[in-house]
Amino acid sequence: MRVLITGVAGFIGSNLAGKFLSNGHSVIGIDKFSDYYSRAQKEFNLSKLISHREFNFIETDLMWAGLEEALKNSDIIFHLAAQPGVLHSWGENFNIYVRNNILATQYLLEILKYHPEKPLIFASSSSVYGNTYHIPMNEENILNPISPYGLTKLTCEKLLELYHGAWGIKYLCLRFFTVFGPGQRPDMAIHKFLKAALHKEKISIYGDGEQRRDFTYIETLTDFLLGIIDNKKWGITLNVGGGKYITVNEAVSMISSIAGKKMDVQYIEKQKGDMNETLADIDRAAELFDYAPSFNIEDGIASQWEWIKNFYA
Ligand code: UGA
Repeated sequence: MRVLITGVAGFIGSNLAGKFLSNGHSVIGIDKFSDYYSRAQKEFNLSKLISHREFNFIETDLMWAGLEEALKNSDIIFHLAAQPGVLHSWGENFNIYVRNNILATQYLLEILKYHPEKPLIFASSSSVYGNTYHIPMNEENILNPISPYGLTKLTCEKLLELYHGAWGIKYLCLRFFTVFGPGQRPDMAIHKFLKAALHKEKISIYGDGEQRRDFTYIETLTDFLLGIIDNKKWGITLNVGGGKYITVNEAVSMISSIAGKKMDVQYIEKQKGDMNETLADIDRAAELFDYAPSFNIEDGIASQWEWIKNFYA
C-alpha cells in the first residue's frame, strides 16, 4: 500500500515509516522541520529511512504546495504532524498551536473532501480528556481539556466529525497516550530523565511526582497502526494506550535502576495544563481491532536507554 505520513521526521512518524517500509509498503513522508525541537534529532530519525527506495521525502509545510500531489499518490493518510507539547501551549505560543494543529488539519480535510475514498488516520491525544472524573478514560467520557494543546486536538476531532458528516471523509481518530521509546521527543519526561542520567544532570519533577501516566511503548503503537491499514470501519474514535499507569516517581526509579545511576531530583511547582492522571480504557480498541498491548514498561525504557546513549554519543 502507498502510505502518506505527515510529520514523518518526528518521533512517532519516523518509527511508523520504518514499520511500513519493513513490511513491504511504500511511504511518502512530509515534514516541515518545525523548530519545536532540534532539526538534528529529526534528521537522525530520518537517516534510517532516507536511503530506502520505497521512501519518498518531501520537506514542506502542510499548507504549502505539495500536499495535494502527495495525497493523489497515496492510498491512506496518517496525519501525525502537529505542534506538540502540552505545557508550552499557553500564552502567545497558542497561535502556533492553532496554526499547526487546527488550521493545518482543516486544510488537509479540505483537500481530502475531493478524495473521500482515501482514509485518514488522525493522531489525537489523551489530553482531550483533561482531569476526568472517570478513570480509566473511556471514549464516552465528557471531554474537558485543561491545556490549550488539548483544546486544539479536541477541535481537530470535531473537524473530523464535521467533514465525515458533510463530505463522507473516512477517518479513524486515535487518542495516543504518552508514547515513549527510541526516538522520543527531547521535551518528554522519559527522554529528559534518561538524558540527565547519562550526563549526570539534575532533573525537575513537576509537583510531587505522584501524577500518573499511561506510558505507551512506540512499537505497540506502530504495530497497531500497521494492523489497521486494511480497516473498513470509519468514523470511529478510540484510545490507543497501554491500559496501565505508573507515577512519574515510579518512572524515575525505573530509569535510575536501568541506567545504574542515582538520580539527582528537584521537585518544582506543578505545571498548568498537566493532567493528574491518564489511563486508557482500551476495551473499544480490543473489541474492534483485537488490540492487546503486552509491553513491559521496564523493557521499553531499557530500549530507549540504548537509543539515548547512541544518540548522544
Ligand atoms: C505527552 C506528549 O507530550 C503529548 O504530545 C501527548 O499529546 C500526550 O503525551 C498524550 O498522551 O496525549 P505528557 O503526558 O505530559 O504529554 O508527557 P511527558 O512530557 O512525557 O510528561 C509525563 C509526566 O512527566 C507529566 O506529568 C509531566 O509533568 C512530568 N514531567 C515531565 C516532569 O515531572 N518533569 C519533566 O521535566 C517533564
